[in-house]
Amino acid sequence: MDHIQIAIDGPSGAGKSTVSKAIAKAMGIVYVDTGALYRTVGYFAREQGIAVDNATAVVPYLDRIRIEVRYEDGVQCVYLNGENLGDRIRQNEISMYASAVSSIPEVRAFLLDTQKKIAAENSVIMDGRDIGTVILPDAQVKVFMTASNEARARRRCKELAEKGMPASYEEILSDMNRRDEADRTRAIAPAIPAADAIIFDNSDLDFDATVAELIRLIEAVAQEKGILLS
Ligand code: DC
Repeated sequence: MDHIQIAIDGPSGAGKSTVSKAIAKAMGIVYVDTGALYRTVGYFAREQGIAVDNATAVVPYLDRIRIEVRYEDGVQCVYLNGENLGDRIRQNEISMYASAVSSIPEVRAFLLDTQKKIAAENSVIMDGRDIGTVILPDAQVKVFMTASNEARARRRCKELAEKGMPASYEEILSDMNRRDEADRTRAIAPAIPAADAIIFDNSDLDFDATVAELIRLIEAVAQEKGILLS
């Protein structure tokens, strides 16, 4: 049987990663967090002392970056030149760097093969911004997951506090708006739904209800297309 490809795109804080993780576990497939790759390049740029508004300065350094994705106890770990960065890539400042580097064509090209290779070797649920449009255009299921700005900022606030990196709601909301606008309007791989994606707004759903609804959507598409999910 061919590998299953489920593409989950959408803005930050829509719950893509937590929900995709739960679905990967339920379906016995691999969860791929592609934002972590851009965050790793962003982290590297900051380490080099590059200013966030001068992110293209990272391009000449790309051949010094080796990124590996490994799965340890089912958890995706991203290694930068042999070092597991763990939650360091989750800091709010790194989110801004990730957004900045993600608009650079050379960076997107640099990360393309890593993403395609994982999907070629495994059945995946992959989340990001351009999965259904660029990385896995033939994915059997494409979902664009979104929620209101306020709901998304609240969730991101809670997530950062739980990770021991608290930031104020106002700061998160304004950074998130800035970042989403940049991601959506950039010239390359803008963060917009694929023409054949299902739009799923979960502003009024909690985590369990979101997972249940997404599983229902995936099963409905699979049935319609005659795809065997397991
Ligand atoms: O999902 P995230 O917040 O971890 O993503 C970090 C940044 O990377 C975000 O601003 C958008 C960008 N990104 C992207 O351009 N393409 C992807 N496939 C994933 C993330």
